Amino acid sequence: MPAPQDEEHSGVAPPTSLILRSPRSGRLEGRTIGSALEVAAADLTSAGFDEPRRRARRLVAAALGLSVTEVFAYPERPLTDREASRIADMLHRTLAHEPLSRVLGTREFWGLELRLSADTLDPRPETETVVEAVLARVTDRGLRYRILDLGTGSGCLLLALLSELPEATGIGVDRAPGAVAMARDNAVALGLAGRARLLASDWAAAIAGRFDIVVANPPYIATAAIAGLPPEVRDFDPQRALDGGADGLEAYRAIAAALPRLLAPEGLFAAELGAGQDEDVTAILAGTGLAVDGVEDDLAGIARCILARSGP
Ligand SMILES: C[S@@+](CC[C@H](N)C(=O)[O-])C[C@H]1O[C@@H](n2cnc3c(N)ncnc32)[C@H](O)[C@@H]1O
Repeated sequence: MPAPQDEEHSGVAPPTSLILRSPRSGRLEGRTIGSALEVAAADLTSAGFDEPRRRARRLVAAALGLSVTEVFAYPERPLTDREASRIADMLHRTLAHEPLSRVLGTREFWGLELRLSADTLDPRPETETVVEAVLARVTDRGLRYRILDLGTGSGCLLLALLSELPEATGIGVDRAPGAVAMARDNAVALGLAGRARLLASDWAAAIAGRFDIVVANPPYIATAAIAGLPPEVRDFDPQRALDGGADGLEAYRAIAAALPRLLAPEGLFAAELGAGQDEDVTAILAGTGLAVDGVEDDLAGIARCILARSGP
């Protein structure tokens, strides 16, 4: 699915079908920024979205490549047909519950702009808890840490850590080849490809060697709970990124079983937790002989990251 900014940079006029595809676009042609905001907010309100005005402002700003402040500043500015069609298309997709990050094809994580694809989870802000927790335990940012990211998706965890640890190198693995390709593209775009290897693997099956830091944000939703997730998640994040098996803990068990051979002496493991999973995952890790080194809360006060260390 091409990101809107790709269309913008391609120099190719959008096909007429894009304009015709949205029943709303007719109401946007010949309009100004201000009146497009009104149309978008009205549609989002009648479709029952919360904070419709804020959403409308973000959507119009993103469609026009402007900041929200600029959108406020120029309500009288007329829209070109191309801009009207882009706003209409993005509104159409938002009304179908597609998250704005998917519509745009990018997400900011730890200050890094990451591209997304249908094969990658849309990284969540709470996953930054894992990055923070690891960095808080790093004694010297100048050391040559070896990092392994299991289930790398867009590459967000590995790339965030490499961006903070200038001498570190890392491997990111994912079972989905499309995610591996996207993570590799992200590493290149961020200038981190020289220190990052991305490869397809069933967890650590294809990995040899030991690592100072192993991170993971495994799929942790119980299979039966997936149908009840909000459509923004259920219909747009890949199933493989969500499904943690019958009790949501299968990936933790598989990863924990490999940790004794993956972690260097006094190596650190850090994993994201689903809400309420801290005690179960503590028990899984204790079964591998690792010492649990703490559980960190996210900004909502939910136990979000578990840390464990191997022995000396
Ligand atoms: C919850 S997503 C996390 C993605 C990314 N690390 C993030 O935080 O946004 C879990 C990831 O694990 C991958 N995955 C699922 N099963 C796997 C397996 N058996 N081996 C390797 N990766 C797997 C999925 O494809 C998905 O990218």
